[in-house]
Parts: sequence; C-alpha cells; structure tokens
Amino acid sequence: MVEKISLSLLPDNTTISEDGMIVFAGVRADDLAKEYGTPLFVYDEEHIRQRCREAVNAFPEGVSYAAKAFLSKAMASLAYEEGMGLDVATMGEAYVALQAGVPARKLTLHGNNKSFDELQYAMDKGIGKIVIDSFDEIAKIEQLFSAGDTPIKALIRITPGVEAHTHEYITTGEEDSKFGFTLSTGLAEKAIDIVNNSKAIELMGIHAHIGSQVFTEESFRRSTEMLAELANRFSLPELCVGGGLGVPYLNDESSISIAEWGAIVRKVCEERGVTAEITAEPGRSIVASAAVTLYTIGTIKELEGIRTYVAVDGGMHDNPRPALYGSGYETFLARDTDSERDMPITLVGKHCESGDVLVRNGSIPSSAAIGDLLVTPVTGAYGHSMGSNYNKVLRPAVVFVKSGQAELVIRREGLEDLLTTDMG
Ligand SMILES: Cc1ncc(COP(=O)(O)O)c(C=O)c1O
Repeated sequence: MVEKISLSLLPDNTTISEDGMIVFAGVRADDLAKEYGTPLFVYDEEHIRQRCREAVNAFPEGVSYAAKAFLSKAMASLAYEEGMGLDVATMGEAYVALQAGVPARKLTLHGNNKSFDELQYAMDKGIGKIVIDSFDEIAKIEQLFSAGDTPIKALIRITPGVEAHTHEYITTGEEDSKFGFTLSTGLAEKAIDIVNNSKAIELMGIHAHIGSQVFTEESFRRSTEMLAELANRFSLPELCVGGGLGVPYLNDESSISIAEWGAIVRKVCEERGVTAEITAEPGRSIVASAAVTLYTIGTIKELEGIRTYVAVDGGMHDNPRPALYGSGYETFLARDTDSERDMPITLVGKHCESGDVLVRNGSIPSSAAIGDLLVTPVTGAYGHSMGSNYNKVLRPAVVFVKSGQAELVIRREGLEDLLTTDMG
C-alpha cells in the first residue's frame, strides 16, 4: 500500500469534486482531457502569479523569471505583468519573450557559448543585460562594437566552487564547470579587470548560479558569501544569485519557500555590508508545482513476479527528466485521489526505448483500467521546455486554467507541423 497523493504537490487551486474527479482551478480533469486531448499540460495561472509575487517580494531590487523552465508568450507576459524581468539563455528564448511584448530592457541574456549572431541580436534589440561567461565572449563583444555604439550592460558569471548537492548534470557552480569564471584561480578577478577597462561593456555586477533543484541552504549561503566579498571589493552595483531553489516532487520531500531563500541571501548580504542591488532568477520554483500532466492509459502489462508496466500516450518527449536524471515523480488516477495506491507500477511512455520511463517506482489504485486518466504532478518546469519530437511524436498542448476557465496557450502539434522545416 502506498499512501494517497499529497495534495501539497498539486497546484494551489486544486480541489476534488463530489464524484472524486480532480479539479484544477475550477476545471475538471476529465473535461480538460475531452476538450484538449492528452497528454496535456495544465497550469494553474493564479499559482504562477502567486509565486511571481513571492519572488518579487523576496528580491525587491530585481528578479527575473528563468524562461528555460517553461516558456510561451502567455508565460512571458504573465511574468512581466507580475513585475519580473526574463532570463533568456538563447536568441530563441529572447525572440519569444520579445514577441510576447516583454520590453528588451527587461531581458538578461545568458549562455556559455553565445554566437556572434546572438550577441549582435542582443545589441540590436537593446537587451537589458548580458551575462558574460568567457574571455572569448568579451573579445566577440569588442569585435562587434563600433565607436559611437552604447556599451552593452553586463554581469560577469562567477564559478564560486560551491557544491550544490544536486544531480551532476544540473550542478553548475563547481570549479570543474563549463560555466563562468573560476574564483579560486583568479580568473574572476581577471575578467572583472578586463571588462572594467572595456569601452564596449558597462560592468553592472556579478552573477552566480550554482545549480538547479538545490535543497541545501548552506550552498546558497556559501555562494552568496563569495559573491558578497567580490561585489564589495570591486564596488559593483549588482549581485545576482541566480536561481536553483529546489522543489518537492515526491510525497516525502519538502523545501524552503522562495521567501525563505530570499531571506537567507539578504541576511548574508546584510551581515557583509553589501551595498549592491541583490537580484535573482528563479525558474523551477515559479512554475514546477503550478502544473500537472494528464495522460491516458493505453496498455497495462503485468509481468508476473517482475513488475506491472502501465503505458500512457506521452513519455520522454513531454518529460525527459526521468530519463535524463533519474528524476522521481508521483502519479495518481484523476478520478480517484482517495483510494490507497495499492498497485506498484512503472509508468512508461510510447517511445522505442526502455529508458522511456515517467515514474519508475509508482503506484496507483488497482482499479486502474485502459482509458483512465493519470496525473503526474509537478511537471511545470523543464517538461514542455525540454520536450522533443522524438519518434515524430506530436508535442502536447498547454492550457492555463483560472476561475473555472481554460485557455489554450500552446496548441497540440498536428502532423503537418512535422514537415514545416522539411525541404523534401
Ligand atoms: C543561469 C541560470 N539562471 C537561472 C536558472 C534557473 O534555475 P532554476 O530553474 O533551478 O531556478 C538556470 C537553470 O539552470 C540557469 O542556468
């Protein structure tokens, strides 16, 4: 027997109807599946807005939403409306944000290997800031700069050498990293010196992002301490602590809130007399638990004495995290959140890979049958955005739900979308 799904993993405005169906912001899961099909990403709009407001309160001097977690025009304009800037990691993310009406000055461009085209695009569009990641990037900017141009505002990305205690693929602040300038070897100071003397760049401050899905408060503290020392030493106007705050995916997990994270960072800065503006760029903690994915069960295969495979109509194309990082998820039946989940299962997708697993060690009520709707919570971050067309599967739709209404923000792909770039 495995306990019922913890409602704390679900979007804020989730309820259960009298007949047992799960309801997101006033919209029943079965109605959503009927209208939009499955797999379907369902985002609780008010939940996202609430997390944006929490972030703005936690970092009143400036906070950007890390668009890589989930990006669509609706998401970009929502974050902007709530007072956030946008952290974009490529020209593509910048393009979507600009198309959504976010002013260029509210964008910060990241990337460890920005191309000439991307840097030129940032300059032409008047993107607010770029985060410089390498000496080659400084040289590229200087090459693109002509006398009379306005220098581009920039932060320098520091690698503080702090262990984030997360999956190695999403650790980014250790010394052995492709990101940023190492502090311990003096490269960070060298980069600050070069940029300070560059006519093409106006140095605004420093930045560090130690990794994603970080639960260790001490790691945030250590990284902020190192940034604080550097910001003070060079009298820099901005200190950005990046993102990374972990969120619970499983019933027995817990994390600190965005407000608590902000308080930890501010306390370290206060203790060290930092005068720089303290900024941040959370992604996962804004959107992860705002969404669920709805799937339809297509096959149940019971391998006696081994395991029961439940296959749904999605898979690694809508959520590659389990295949990439071995990430854990819960799953439950949309029509029955009340029964014990007494049947151990492995939830798999429809791809031609044994690694196409959505929930390795899940459990659902044994009444589950073909055609039933399954829900996986906490799929709002790095699900749709990391998705693919592998096996020429059509990417799912995304809806925002609010006050009993659903709004389609990304339509489901059709077969014709598979050939839009195919030249024949
Ligand atoms: C530079 C940078 N900032 C912010 C983020 C957002 O991190 P998270 O979604 O964990 O908050 C990332 C994600 O990896 C990142 O690389």
